[in-house]
Amino acid sequence: MVAQIIDGKAFAAKMRDKIAAQVAALKADHGITPGLAVVLVGQDPASQVYVRSKGKQTVEVGMASFEHRLAADTSEAELLAVIDALNADPKIHGILVQLPLPDHLDSDLVINRIDPAKDVDGFHISNVGLLGTGQKAMVPCTPLGCLMMLRAHHGSLSGLHAVVVGRSNIVGKPMAQLLLGDSCTVTIAHSRTRNLAEICRSADILVAAVGRPEMIPGEWVKPGATVMDVGINRVADGAKTRLVGDVDFDSAAAVAGAITPVPGGVGPMTIACLLANTLTATCRANGLPEPEGLTV
Ligand code: GUN
Repeated sequence: MVAQIIDGKAFAAKMRDKIAAQVAALKADHGITPGLAVVLVGQDPASQVYVRSKGKQTVEVGMASFEHRLAADTSEAELLAVIDALNADPKIHGILVQLPLPDHLDSDLVINRIDPAKDVDGFHISNVGLLGTGQKAMVPCTPLGCLMMLRAHHGSLSGLHAVVVGRSNIVGKPMAQLLLGDSCTVTIAHSRTRNLAEICRSADILVAAVGRPEMIPGEWVKPGATVMDVGINRVADGAKTRLVGDVDFDSAAAVAGAITPVPGGVGPMTIACLLANTLTATCRANGLPEPEGLTV
């Protein structure tokens, strides 16, 4: 193996320490405790795991965590009423509605009901527009985490060719915007892209966010490239299951210059960035200077 492992778990732990110190200072100096509300509709097992983990880490950095677990058959009106109440509550600085929502609910309508200043996921249409035009936005957590690790590894990203495989609103599109903002040449590829292998092989930075287990083999990776694996896929392994990314780790690590592992790469950074966004939202809401090094 030649690639350097980019240790997202360690990076996220350092970020949480910084956040915890700033939360303590906010409390001591201003009597403010950042509050994050997470809304979960239904019983999707993966979502329940994420929500539990978010709640635990929120409390660990000294923030207040509020959980709203709603039945799978919650009506749109009921869910919108919960969001309206959170928008109006001064104890709440960040609101996250866990996706995916059950099919009978319109995610766009629900997300766009969140006060953009409390939209710590960065999914509200006005935050999407601010990011796309290079203005101060709430930035989606997974791409923000990737960008922070890429900056830490490379210093400047200027002029590098970044290929983002995946065009989701949660990862692919905002990732491309962030890389463009850092002066990369950006290609967005997806399941219909022709010559995908060739395009991936031209990448200095390859971001895999397709949600298909080990789809990208080492032969698609340019020697020395940096590979960010956003995939978290649970696959059968004999009687057990294990987590794998969208990249075939062993073959990719043999040619890449640097690579994020799964688990322990991008995943831990997503929650750390959610906490960072909650702290940023709290500072903005109170007219205080924004924390340094926690957003872009
Ligand atoms: N489901 C999977 N990833 C995410 C995320 O980053 N935010 C929300 N709200 N739901 C998700």
